Amino acid sequence: MANTQEIVSVLTESRVFPPPEDFSRRAHIRSMQDYQRLWDEAAKDPDKYWGDRAREELYWKEPFQTVLDWKPPHARWFVEGKTNLAYNCLDRHLPKLKDKPAILFEGEPGDRRAITYGELSQQVNRLANGLKSLGVKKGDRVGIYLPMVPEAAVAMLACARLGAVHSVVFGGFSAEALQDRMKDAGAKVLLTADGGWRKGAVVPLMKNVEAALPNAPSIEKVIVLTRTGDGKLPEGPKFVAWDALVKGQSDTCEPEWVESEHPLFILYTSGSTGKPKGVLHTTAGYAVNASLTTRWVFDLRDDDVYWCTADVGWVTGHTYVVYGPLMNGVTTIIYEGAPTQPGPDRFWDIIERYKATILYTAPTAIRAFMRLGDGPVKQHDLSSLRLLGSVGEPINPEAWMWYRDVIGGGRCPIVDTWWQTETGGIMVSPLPGATPTKPGSATFPLPGIHAEILDRDGKRVPKGQGGLLFVTKPWPSMLRTVYGDPERYVNTYFSELPGMYFTGDGARTDADGYVWLMGRVDDVVNVAGHRLGTAEVESALVAHPKVSEAAVVGRPDDLKGTALVAFVTLKQGNAPSEALKKELAVHVGKEIGAIARPDEIRFAEGLPKTRSGKIMRRLLRDVAAGKQSSQDTTTLEDLNVLAALRQTDE
Ligand code: WT7
Repeated sequence: MANTQEIVSVLTESRVFPPPEDFSRRAHIRSMQDYQRLWDEAAKDPDKYWGDRAREELYWKEPFQTVLDWKPPHARWFVEGKTNLAYNCLDRHLPKLKDKPAILFEGEPGDRRAITYGELSQQVNRLANGLKSLGVKKGDRVGIYLPMVPEAAVAMLACARLGAVHSVVFGGFSAEALQDRMKDAGAKVLLTADGGWRKGAVVPLMKNVEAALPNAPSIEKVIVLTRTGDGKLPEGPKFVAWDALVKGQSDTCEPEWVESEHPLFILYTSGSTGKPKGVLHTTAGYAVNASLTTRWVFDLRDDDVYWCTADVGWVTGHTYVVYGPLMNGVTTIIYEGAPTQPGPDRFWDIIERYKATILYTAPTAIRAFMRLGDGPVKQHDLSSLRLLGSVGEPINPEAWMWYRDVIGGGRCPIVDTWWQTETGGIMVSPLPGATPTKPGSATFPLPGIHAEILDRDGKRVPKGQGGLLFVTKPWPSMLRTVYGDPERYVNTYFSELPGMYFTGDGARTDADGYVWLMGRVDDVVNVAGHRLGTAEVESALVAHPKVSEAAVVGRPDDLKGTALVAFVTLKQGNAPSEALKKELAVHVGKEIGAIARPDEIRFAEGLPKTRSGKIMRRLLRDVAAGKQSSQDTTTLEDLNVLAALRQTDE
């Protein structure tokens, strides 16, 4: 059971920024009255509200009859309907948008490509036909392990066209992480590249794939895109060159019309146990909300040049780089590399050259830019920007103000969007033409979204007090299950309060009803906008031959939001050393990926435990933060352990 007593709010932020008048005048939703009216409509008759939205947002091959079939905690949305997401992203736009750029791509080395809706459609169809020729069919799982190149979007859309279920693995993940995910998903085919560019160097994707393959036996074929090398394939019958596969394929491919609840993708995300969860999303409900939230929250117009900087390896890349913008027929920017390559102004250079109108990025990036000072920003004309977005973790008011003033020139509204891999789309966010914003608050739930702050008995907490964030009613883009582990779906999300989705986040509302997120309440930490289960890092550490036990906790960090601190006890005969610290950090990087590498490793003689042997992470959190603990230690088995840990403070 999550502990609400730990949630103490320290923020007092009183600034309010109403939407600029000229922004509101042209916006999709123009006032708080309009927002409230939509919210009330949705609350009064959710079937009508979501049914109307579904008919507006999607092309339906066959109409649905039932909006929602809810047998808690299992939802089926838009039952009996049939559609295809690739058709909705491409075909239906072609009569009008064939020659409009769908994707503006920039590689890290500076190579550029503009891909029109017409061209994107051809590429998707050719690849879909190529996949078909390898035997991929409706329901098969397909792995995608690519750099941020247009082919990542092409691959996702080709799967959607065939009704195959994609599972994208972030290109920064290691061979081990890739193999676990491919094995769990039972992927039949893997789409990858020889490498990708990052910070001027090659990310060795192919090498990782080769290391993963022996332990991912379901993979029959590996399709390899040439991005960084000479096009030579590794030896063996499994490898197929991407170019050779699509060459000569027809550029038409009849979409597979799938049922609304047909699985669309599996995306792995960290939980509080060691094993990542395969979050499963289905087709129509996800698509309806992706399309709707992209248009409303980013207030899309036809001439927008929209840039969401997330990688397709995360859910933000799925919903707000690929599906949401393409369903809305806008132009979306894809940039391959690091934000500061070759110089600290790369992002601002991109915005100036493409005249980007919308920028959606993460607080950790904003804080990193802030550190670099205003100089790199001032070298560029950012006057094309009209809206800014933030996602991934709470944004501190200082970073929010810098974002607004320095990047947005004081004229762009900011949408601080709260959501999760599991929610599929944005849940709590300002509507930029309607909502007066407060720096650091995600403001209000979108119409139809019942995000409520409750205590552990399910009672609403009074304003100003912290509680647990639940979503108390189903919504179309909610996850449907944990792939291959239906029990975990129920236990993780629906066991705190029956029938209500538990987010794992703490939150409070202020006197005006604004929602303020307060971070995770479980053993999950948010590092640089990405969720990491501390248990995952711990299990990587104890997999090292010299480690006996490990506990990993988060410590507040100016840049990353949270830094990872690992407390490690060594097996007998091993002595602590700086070299070993390095070795362990590298080891975790290899097991999971660089994002999971601990920022600090502390060796300990013992770890604080309860009498039943559970590691008391809450005490370690205080030690890591250098705080004297005011916490209850009556259940601690050996108080000396804690004292000893404090003495090892550097
Ligand atoms: C967790 C979800 C949503 C896509 C990126 C991360 C935190 C996310 C915000 C925000 C405060 C936020 C929450 C949430 N989070 N956005 N605007 N304000 N916290 O997806 O990996 O599924 O992580 O990120 O803690 O539970 P994710």
